[in-house]
Amino acid sequence: MRIGIHNKPGSFSDRWIDYCKSNNIDYKLIDCLDTNIISNIDDCQIIMWHHSQGNTKEILAAKSILFAIQKSGKIVFPDFNTNWHFDDKVGQKYLFESLNIQSAPSYVFYEAEHALNWIEKTSFPKVFKLRGGAGSENVKLVKTKSEAKKVVHKSFKTGYKQYDAWSNLKDRWRLFNLGKIGFWSLIKGVIRLVYEPEFSKVIGRQRGYVYFQDFIPENEFDIRIIVIDKKAFAVKRMVRENDFRASGSGSVLYEKENFDDKTVAAAFDAAKKLKGQSVAIDFVYDGQKPVVVEISYAFVKEAYDLCVGYWDEQMNWYEGSFNPYGWMVDMVIKQYKETIK
Ligand SMILES: Nc1ncnc2c1ncn2[C@@H]1O[C@H](COP(=O)(O)OP(=O)(O)O)[C@@H](O)[C@H]1O
Ligand SMILES: [Mg+2]
Repeated sequence: MRIGIHNKPGSFSDRWIDYCKSNNIDYKLIDCLDTNIISNIDDCQIIMWHHSQGNTKEILAAKSILFAIQKSGKIVFPDFNTNWHFDDKVGQKYLFESLNIQSAPSYVFYEAEHALNWIEKTSFPKVFKLRGGAGSENVKLVKTKSEAKKVVHKSFKTGYKQYDAWSNLKDRWRLFNLGKIGFWSLIKGVIRLVYEPEFSKVIGRQRGYVYFQDFIPENEFDIRIIVIDKKAFAVKRMVRENDFRASGSGSVLYEKENFDDKTVAAAFDAAKKLKGQSVAIDFVYDGQKPVVVEISYAFVKEAYDLCVGYWDEQMNWYEGSFNPYGWMVDMVIKQYKETIK
């Protein structure tokens, strides 16, 4: 049994390779973007590729390639159940509704007229989101009916760039002042006012649909729980000052006391329904009730290195450091062994 690992320094592949080396697991490095990828992996039974939403080539190809490989009978990470809705909040709306996952009520329209009719009847504020994006960059509060109408008109006329240069620069300025990013990163944000990043051009303008969520008020943080192979770990992310958005704020808490059993149990329950190999679930609270706002199979690994422990499905807590990237490798090996039983 051999694992093909798509080699992308900085991604999960660094950790997967380390884990395979230290546990004597046979692996080879592969390039999933090579036109001969399918024949190049003849000698692999498992393929792992941490593709991301900000990488032009991966946006174009990763899902198709992985799904094709999965169809050939090999085990892949991330597999179809884990991956089809990645960076697609609109897809996730239908998924949460189909699986009865307690989530923030969401609305999507493919005709301006339908959206405008809905605006007349609904209440405000609402949260307007593009279907893709991370770190809160494409998430905005729409406070009034007239603001919402403007959003609808823009969504069906010029559309929205995937990369919002002004709001990105504002966030860089905030992070720079908090000492979380350097001067060069700030300057890059300024350059981006003129030069749209390649990935954003490739995705193209977001138009022809508009997506809103009910605004769940009075949340000073969100809770992200990541479930991998029946184990869960969590972070609490405080919202930005005078803002409702937590992800990307840079203000993260890790101690166990920040998390309640109810939310961890809700994460296990959602992960079970989703049948995903790796599911990061973002929760906010409607009163006491945890509601999901989005999911993602991938995450920024450094942000979770400070987690202080994890839970199993029976809600036992294991204090201390752990290796979720090793869990991923062990999980796909287990899945492979199931297929040859
Ligand atoms: N419906 C909502 N009500 C209240 N807060 C929300 C809602 N949706 C998102 N948020 C806040 O905005 C942040 C970003 O939203 P999210 O949908 O997770 O987008 P991203 O993919 O950018 O992380 C969340 O971390 C949460 O704090
Ligand atoms: Mg999020």
